[in-house]
Amino acid sequence: MPEVVPEVGAEVVVVGSANVDLVLPVQRIPRPGETVLATGLTRGPGGKGANQAVASARAGASTAFVAALGDDDGGALLRAALAEAGVDLSLLQISQAPTGTAIITVDGAGENAITVAPSANATLRLTPAARSAVAGAKIVLSQLEIGFGTVQAAAEASAYFILNAAPAAELTDELLGQVDLLVVNETEAEAVAGTKLSALLDRVPAAVVTLGAEGALILTRDAAEVRVPAVPVEVVDTTAAGDTFCGVLAATLAATSTTASDLTNAVRRATVAASLSVQTAGAIPSVPHGESIDARCA
Ligand code: ADP
Ligand code: NA
Repeated sequence: MPEVVPEVGAEVVVVGSANVDLVLPVQRIPRPGETVLATGLTRGPGGKGANQAVASARAGASTAFVAALGDDDGGALLRAALAEAGVDLSLLQISQAPTGTAIITVDGAGENAITVAPSANATLRLTPAARSAVAGAKIVLSQLEIGFGTVQAAAEASAYFILNAAPAAELTDELLGQVDLLVVNETEAEAVAGTKLSALLDRVPAAVVTLGAEGALILTRDAAEVRVPAVPVEVVDTTAAGDTFCGVLAATLAATSTTASDLTNAVRRATVAASLSVQTAGAIPSVPHGESIDARCA
């Protein structure tokens, strides 16, 4: 019998990573060769792709997640968190490899050091069903915690492709030629185009640079640059601030359009959402819902 490819039909498709986050609070992040004792250990669902899919769904977009999980406890933890947020799980792939894991050491000042074992994430491929969902989506969103070939394949199949180029990496013209909107923080921007932010436009038609407490900067080839301020908040934990930003941006663009004025409005909403997320601890638990974002925007 021919394989039946189910219709997913989501407005936003996130092609990305899912990790179990092991968070270790420490007084000081260890130096090379050093051992330190953590004051605790928490285990929770995370990974840039999973965080961004949850942010998009909570912001109100129908959202499908293309990711690879292990057949293990970590995979079950992630499935439960994604399902609870309303993310379409029909394109998840079960890998022979274990679920990806991130070891996150956080010091007293909120500074962190993160090591990721990609594991199942490295096995993610764009299957025919995933490719068809990507091709039918209004907005496709990826990051760089999965294999480069899979990111490239998603970019090629997309009508509008947002690349969150995180973690920081040098990128090829072949990939950047398929990017409609690049989202980077300042470190990632430097890896792509050096210290002059306007040089990003030599490589992509539009870019949003997130600037932490300073908010975000929108750069496009056909309109003047726009600065969007952050909301002043009490910082508790910045984990997943960038992911909240990307997911809400994708969801808002899917509900409106990608013209310059709708892009500015979507960046405003994403900035408010990301600022709200730093007031709450954790990755997925800190991602706000559409109602609280819009109450704050009003
Ligand atoms: P990343 O976490 O990926 O390095 P940023 O630090 O630039 O990204 O933060 C992403 C977004 O999160 C910012 O554009 C802003 O909206 C929000 N944000 C981050 N830090 C703060 C802060 N201290 N106060 C208010 N908003 C913040
Ligand atoms: Na972040």
